[in-house]
Amino acid sequence: MPARLPDGDLAPADGALPAPALASLGLRPFGVYVHVPFCATRCGYCDFNTYTALELNGGRSRAGYVAAARAEIALAARVLGDGAPSVDTVFFGGGTPTLLAPAELAELLGAIDETFGLAPGAEVTTEANPESVDPASLAALRAAGFTRISLGMQSAAPHVLATLDRVHTPGRAAAAAREARAAGFAHVSLDLIYGAPGETDDDWRASLEAALAAEPDHLSAYALIVEPGTRLAAQVERGALPAPDDDALADRYELADALLAAAGMRWYEVSNWARSPEDACRHNLGYWRGGDWWGIGPGAHSHVGGVRWWNVLHPSAYAARLAEGASPAAGRELLDAQTRRVERVMLELRLAEGLPLDALDETGRAAAQQAVVDGLATFADDHLRLTLRGRLLADAVVRALLG
Ligand SMILES: C[S@@+](CC[C@H](N)C(=O)[O-])C[C@H]1O[C@@H](n2cnc3c(N)ncnc32)[C@H](O)[C@@H]1O
Ligand code: SF4
Repeated sequence: MPARLPDGDLAPADGALPAPALASLGLRPFGVYVHVPFCATRCGYCDFNTYTALELNGGRSRAGYVAAARAEIALAARVLGDGAPSVDTVFFGGGTPTLLAPAELAELLGAIDETFGLAPGAEVTTEANPESVDPASLAALRAAGFTRISLGMQSAAPHVLATLDRVHTPGRAAAAAREARAAGFAHVSLDLIYGAPGETDDDWRASLEAALAAEPDHLSAYALIVEPGTRLAAQVERGALPAPDDDALADRYELADALLAAAGMRWYEVSNWARSPEDACRHNLGYWRGGDWWGIGPGAHSHVGGVRWWNVLHPSAYAARLAEGASPAAGRELLDAQTRRVERVMLELRLAEGLPLDALDETGRAAAQQAVVDGLATFADDHLRLTLRGRLLADAVVRALLG
């Protein structure tokens, strides 16, 4: 949940949704996202909506978080009414969800289950910083019903971790992944970042090999983005650090795909690989395929039946709204047909399953033909699928498809 909110219309104070959006509930998978906006320290590259204790009056505004999130779960139940479907996926993201005690995460998961019901076989993920979990907390999360953990490893190179302001040791993420398996997590994912200033091809290869040695069933690899307003952006602007180099980023992506494929992991989204289709993150697939989800927490975004809304950013403002019995939504947008089509092209083209050709207009189909001629995509089963070269140029292909 990045820390910038879109412009939009005012959201109604009671959070009410238009009848057509409510009527369409249940036609698509339904997820619940819980944003936990707290971190022990802020990494210089990160612009997510998250706060350290120092930024929150020594942590006092953190105290009311669980009660406020519970109040939003109750609000969601009132707004969605009798048509609320059971929950297919839950995802606790951050921030650092595991800065909350396992009992607090369990309380929120329990409230979601009591309120909506978890569907049989529901996927329940938490993100975690490697240094914020241990065998006891992992066992407690597993016992509470968490089925999947996503650990922010980022790199195995000490100097890259230092540039990124990470506070864990190079081996801690892999150790945490093994501890998670031992605690009974069937699904363990690692996040890596490539292209940090000072990272070499060999550093990146070593990071991939260290990640694979921990035997995750899922891996995300993100090119480092220099987000405006971050400490990293200031360092790049004043020349203290070089910006990531596009050619190096492309080489690193290709190396990642080759090593991961050789280890039996297949890409299913441009930045995501899984050992088998069952190991893909179902919650994120819901976002990419236009599913419905309610986002709980400060700055969280939601989407139900073509209505998108987003919450106020600050934990104090969020808790204050809910304490007054009001919706914490800061703004919302009714997605028209054209916006939905554009988003569908942007998101579904990035999936290995590809973009259904019926999502394209005439100009888009001509651009798709050209992308195939240029070796950026292939046609199969009425879908347009990116090639490896196409994945490197996915944004340019999307722009061409949308004219
Ligand atoms: C917002 S973090 C939350 C997880 C957890 N706090 C952590 O850092 O381990 C989720 C992931 O986003 C990725 N990320 C955040 N900022 C990024 C940036 N500027 N460029 C690339 N990836 C980024 C990192 O890989 C991180 O693991
Ligand atoms: S720990 Fe994760 S969420 Fe927190 S600042 Fe670092 S990258 Fe961002």
